[in-house]
Formats: sequence, structure tokens, C-alpha cells
Amino acid sequence: MAGRVSQPEDLIRDWARIPTLPQVIARLGRLLDDPDVGLREIGAVVAEDPPLASQVLRTANSAYYGFAQRVVSLEHAATLLGGRVLRNIVLQASVMKMFKHLRGSGVDLQQLWQHSILTGQMCWTLAFRCRAELGLAPEEFYVIGLLHDIGKFVMLDGLRAEYTEVLGAAQREDRPIHVVEREAFGFHHADVGSLVADHWKLPPLVCEAIRYHHGPREAVASDPRVSIIANMNLLVSRVRAGDMLAATSVIDDQVRQFLGLSTDDVADIVLYATEIQDHVEV
Ligand SMILES: [Fe+2]
Ligand SMILES: [Fe+2]
Repeated sequence: MAGRVSQPEDLIRDWARIPTLPQVIARLGRLLDDPDVGLREIGAVVAEDPPLASQVLRTANSAYYGFAQRVVSLEHAATLLGGRVLRNIVLQASVMKMFKHLRGSGVDLQQLWQHSILTGQMCWTLAFRCRAELGLAPEEFYVIGLLHDIGKFVMLDGLRAEYTEVLGAAQREDRPIHVVEREAFGFHHADVGSLVADHWKLPPLVCEAIRYHHGPREAVASDPRVSIIANMNLLVSRVRAGDMLAATSVIDDQVRQFLGLSTDDVADIVLYATEIQDHVEV
């Protein structure tokens, strides 16, 4: 497996079992694009799958959304949350279920999902504040954040012990995981993640943002979508590590101006990340 490769696709094909997304996600996508379809109809599609529906209701009733009234049905959830947010909750529930079998593999999946969900929430919030032209709805940034590290799950699934060894080495040597992955395999989880997103037919701009979330620096500096995910990934990691000084320096003046943010926006974003970090339910 070791050695340089220019096309990660070739190697990945040999071992990666990229699962397919449940039909309901594609159906929801089509309904959301149809202006004649109402929110009740969108909720009804999710209600057809009872285990998924109860998971979605649990998430909609979690502290994060903070509704004063209890969300009792999928139609109710769709009306309160909006179609795209509901689709995102369904996507999250489906993808988490997809990799449930990796429990006990020696990797803390709960921590990985907490990081991913928190990053999704921060990307979504930041996208709302940005005045730069993003070309994607703010809700799509939740998808980018949620799935930015999905390549780690697929690598763990396909490579098992070989991959846990790489994660262990990165931790022992205190080096970035993507760097150690590239040394060992010739590609890293962002390469794999963008292939997964493409396989799931997510918009090309979402695939690209996932692909470049660890650089190169030019991609982060020139594409506002990549800038959002790269910087929110860093911010969330630093907040989780309790390093507030480092967290406040993530969005520097250059990034702030590039994304069209005010200094108040930046202060709010950092504060929000610290507030919600303990409210992420996995
Ligand atoms: Fe990553
Ligand atoms: Fe990450």
C-alpha cells in the first residue's frame, strides 16, 4: 500500500467499499428542487421510514434546536426546520448508521462524529454571516462540515489495522493525521472524502470543499467555500482542545476580509463555538 500515487481513485477502488446513500436522500433532494412541493409532503417522505423518522425526531428535539414546543411529527419538524435542514438531519442519521459497524474498531467514533457535527454547525453559521459570494445555500455548508472527514471512516472500514496504526502514529508523534496518511498511503482522507461525496452525487462545489479542507494553501486562500471548511475545522479543533488564544486567531484579518465578515461576526463565531461544543449529541 505504501508509495506515491497520483490518482488515489486507482488505489481506493481496490479496497474501498463506499456504501450507497439511502433512496430517501435522493427523493428529498428532488422534492426540495420542486417549488410546487410543500413542507408537509417532504416530512411525509421521511415518515415512511419509521426508524429513520424516530432518529430525526430525536435530533429535532435535541437541545441544539431549542424549540419551546415538542416536535411531534415529521410534518411538524419540516414546518419548523425547513426542508433543507430536515434533509440534513436525515443525511446525518443515515451516514452515522452506515458506519455503526466500525464500533469496537479501536477508534473513538463518537469523538469523530462530535467533531464533524460541530464543524457542520459552525460552517453553516459562518456561511449565514459571510457577505462573500458562496454559490451554495448556507444549509449546504452543514453538509460540507458534516462530511469533511468522511474519508476517515471509509479508510478505517477498508484498511482497518493498517489505518488504526497510522492514526496511532499521528497521535504519538503529534503530527497532522493527513500528513501521516499521505506518507503511508500516498493520499489522505480529504482525497477519499471527495470521492465519496462525488459517488453520492453531492454538488461539485461540496466535493471540492471537502477535497481541499487540509490545503493546499492556495485553494484555501482563493476559494471562500474551502476557506470556510478549512478554518472551521481548525476553530473547532482548537476550541475542543481548550486553546482559546489559538481559536481566536483562526479568522485573521485576511480571512475575515476575504469572507466579508465584520470583527463582531468573528467574535460571535468564536463565542458560539464555545457555547455549542457541549450540546452536540451523538
Ligand atoms: Fe480532515
Ligand atoms: Fe476535521
